[in-house]
Order: sequence, then C-alpha cells, then structure tokens
Amino acid sequence: MNKLKIGIIGLGTVGSGVYKTLKNFDNVEIIKIAVKNLNKKRSVEVPSSMLTDNPYEIVNDPSIDVVVELIGGVEPAYSYLETAIKNGKHIVTANKELLAKRGEEIFNLAEKYNRVILYEAAIAGGIPIIMPVKTILAGNKINKIHAILNGTTNYILTKMDTEGASYEAVLKEAQELGYAETDPTGDVEGFDAAYKITTLATIAFKKKIKFENVYREGITKIRKEDMKEANEFGYKIKLIATASIDENDNADVRVHPMLISKDTTLAHIDYVTNAVELNGFPIGKVVLSGPGAGEFPTASSVVGDILAIAAEFGKSDYILPMMRCNHSTKANPVKIEDTYNKYYISITAPNAIGIIAKIGTICANKNISLSSILQRGVSKDNTADIIVITEKCQEKLLREAVEELKDCTVNSIIRVAD
Ligand SMILES: NC(=O)c1ccc[n+]([C@@H]2O[C@H](COP(=O)([O-])OP(=O)(O)OC[C@H]3O[C@@H](n4cnc5c(N)ncnc54)[C@H](OP(=O)(O)O)[C@@H]3O)[C@@H](O)[C@H]2O)c1
Repeated sequence: MNKLKIGIIGLGTVGSGVYKTLKNFDNVEIIKIAVKNLNKKRSVEVPSSMLTDNPYEIVNDPSIDVVVELIGGVEPAYSYLETAIKNGKHIVTANKELLAKRGEEIFNLAEKYNRVILYEAAIAGGIPIIMPVKTILAGNKINKIHAILNGTTNYILTKMDTEGASYEAVLKEAQELGYAETDPTGDVEGFDAAYKITTLATIAFKKKIKFENVYREGITKIRKEDMKEANEFGYKIKLIATASIDENDNADVRVHPMLISKDTTLAHIDYVTNAVELNGFPIGKVVLSGPGAGEFPTASSVVGDILAIAAEFGKSDYILPMMRCNHSTKANPVKIEDTYNKYYISITAPNAIGIIAKIGTICANKNISLSSILQRGVSKDNTADIIVITEKCQEKLLREAVEELKDCTVNSIIRVAD
C-alpha cells in the first residue's frame, strides 16, 4: 500500500492527540515532527530520530506529501505553510488565527499551486462543521449563524449562572483547573471566537469576510447581577458569535455577549461544550454541538482531514474540489452602529419621582420602544435599580439615548437575541 507521508509541525496539546490517534491507521506514515524545544518532556513517546527543531526540514522534504501545522499564531506558521505549498504539499491546519488574518492569501496560494488546505479543527474543535457546510449542505443558501465557539468563556458564564459567582472568582477557578490560560485575553475578550466566525462566515456565505470588520466584545463586564436578571426575564447570557448576510451581500459579523431565550438550544449549551446553529434554505435550522477543544476532540478533526487527503491522494491531479476555498466576491461589512438589536439595560437611578417616565421619554425620543421596564425597589442609599428591555432599535440611537441618561449609572448594556 502506498502510504500518505506526513510531517507535523507542533507536538503540543493537539499534536500529541494527532500522533496518538494516527497510530491506529496504517495508510498514513509520519516522517518527521517539528517542535520548538527538543528537550521538553512530552506526554507522547516519539523516537528522537523523528523530531527536529527546524520546520524547514519538513516543508522542504520532497518525500512529504502533507504538512500538518499545529503550532498556532500567524508567524512563523504562515511562512512555513507558504514554503510547503510552493513545494507541492497539501496542508492540514488547526490555526484559526492564521486563517482569520491571512486565510485569503493562503487559500489563493494553494489554488495557484493546485493544493488543498483542510482546517476542520480550526473552527469548533471536534465538531464537524467545515466539511458538512462545504459538502452535504452545499445546496443551501446559508444566511444566518449563531454559535458558541469558545469553551473557556462558556465555562465561565455557565459557572456564574449556576453558582451566582462573580466573573473574577470564576475566572480564577477556571485558571486553576486549566480551563483558562494565565493570560486569558484571547478567550475572554472574544478574539478566539472572532477568528473562528470570520472563517466560518466566509465559508458559509461564500463571500470574503475580513477579520478587521468583525465587531468584538468580550465577557469581562458581565456581572453576576446581570445573570440573575437575565434568568428572571427568561434568558441565559452566552458569548455568541453571530453572522448574517442579506440579499445585497451586507454581512453583519460579530462576537459579543447576548441574552438568549431559555427556549433555544444554544441557551442549554453549557460549560466547555460548543455549538453552531446554521439557518439556510432549504434546510431551515440545523444545530451541531460537541467538544470545541481539547487534545482528542481536536485530533479527531485533524485526523479526519488527513484521512480525507489520504483517500484521494494520487487518484487525480485535483483532489477534494468541494473543499477548496477561493471566494472571488467580498461581502459588504455592516458597522455595529447601523445594526438593529434588542437591548437589556441595567440602570441605577436616583430615587426621584418620574424617573421611569423620564427613561421612557428619552427612549421614545430616539424611536426606541420598550418591551419591559422594571424597578427593583429602593436601596438604602436612595437609589433604584431599574431593568429595561427594548424592542429592536438602531444601535446608534440606543447609544445616543444612553448618553442622555446623565443622572443615572448605566451598569450594563447587553444585546438580546431575537
Ligand atoms: N488546544 C486545543 O484544544 C485547540 C483546539 C482547536 C484548535 N487549536 C489550535 O491548534 C494549534 C495548536 O494548539 P495547541 O493547543 O496544541 O498548542 P500548544 O500546546 O501550545 O503546542 C504548540 C506546539 O507547537 C510547537 N511550536 C511552537 N512554535 C514552534 C516553532 N516555531 N517551530 C516548531 N514548533 C513550534 C511547540 O513546541 P514545544 O512543545 O517544543 O514547545 C508545541 O509542541 C493552534 O493553532 C490552536 O489555536 C487548539
């Protein structure tokens, strides 16, 4: 049997899982693995002759058919892949940041050299999403995506919800348990989810989406009081990656916390589980959920991609045509100020006669209808906590209305899903 010969760059969490899983397949042979530190103690036993600290030994090796990139970050990963493609290698990668920031360039290069890039693991870890969208869902016009794409933030929000704990307390615990990094910025500020939705929206809408145009807001300002209020109004708070496109190719792609109705599937996706809800024609709504990260779930996707190439390799000059990505047209980005949303607003106001009427008037003057307004008694310091939930209104007008609430403290503004 002609074995597919692969080189792996990176033997960390994902690389180790891939190495262990690939042992079960005799149609793939690992030729070399590049790491940064040859002396590091690892969870896998790899023959030392197989290891190198020079990835160019892999990308320039004529015997290697496929380069599997599992180091992350834009550089030097981009340069390694560029050389590999120019040397005729197919690519498998789990690198969401690289795809979000330089996907267009790397896909165009792959087309030019007639190579395929597969990246199932980069979007939702173990959840199959790219291959389904590009193959069995190809007959659909997908126009809306709602997704939970980051396990760390979903874990933190679930714990805040179930235990009534503060963001800071849960983050600390998540860091101790290894669910959050020492520097959690990439997760809690929404970068990770924004990388993923950039590529997923590009694939699903078949239009170029630029990462710079994706609006992003993290979870660091969510208060335990917001969790409690959301529950009382019939919602959960989740970090949602959302994308929609209209008939004129205006694409609204963003990541931010959202109140989502307890009646939806996504409201019940808890802890580190991820989920993607796609809406399209003719399928309607479809939800895929599962483990969005971790050694073995991510390895499942990487190995699936490697085996897809192995099954086709050598059979034709142009393998896996449905998995190719070079979108010629761009979507028009929609600015967040121009979007229409419902909002949850928590306000602490002076306990003055007519304060509710005043809030109502300020909103009415900006064409904002209120769906609920509720005062939670009066505090000892003679202030009142008021919760407002609006109907759909323009973000720009909502911001102007909030500016006019000068006598009040606005504790939180969180968008509410339809
Ligand atoms: N972890 C997950 O659950 C998960 C899920 C989905 C996608 N991903 C993506 O998968 C990729 C890998 O993530 P990971 O969690 O496995 O990372 P990781 O545990 O930090 O491992 C990174 C590996 O890359 C090696 N490396 C880093 N820079 C290198 C360089 N310049 N040359 C050679 N080797 C280098 C490191 O070598 P040393 O071991 O010698 O330090 C390490 O083995 C990233 O793109 C990540 O976003 C991860």
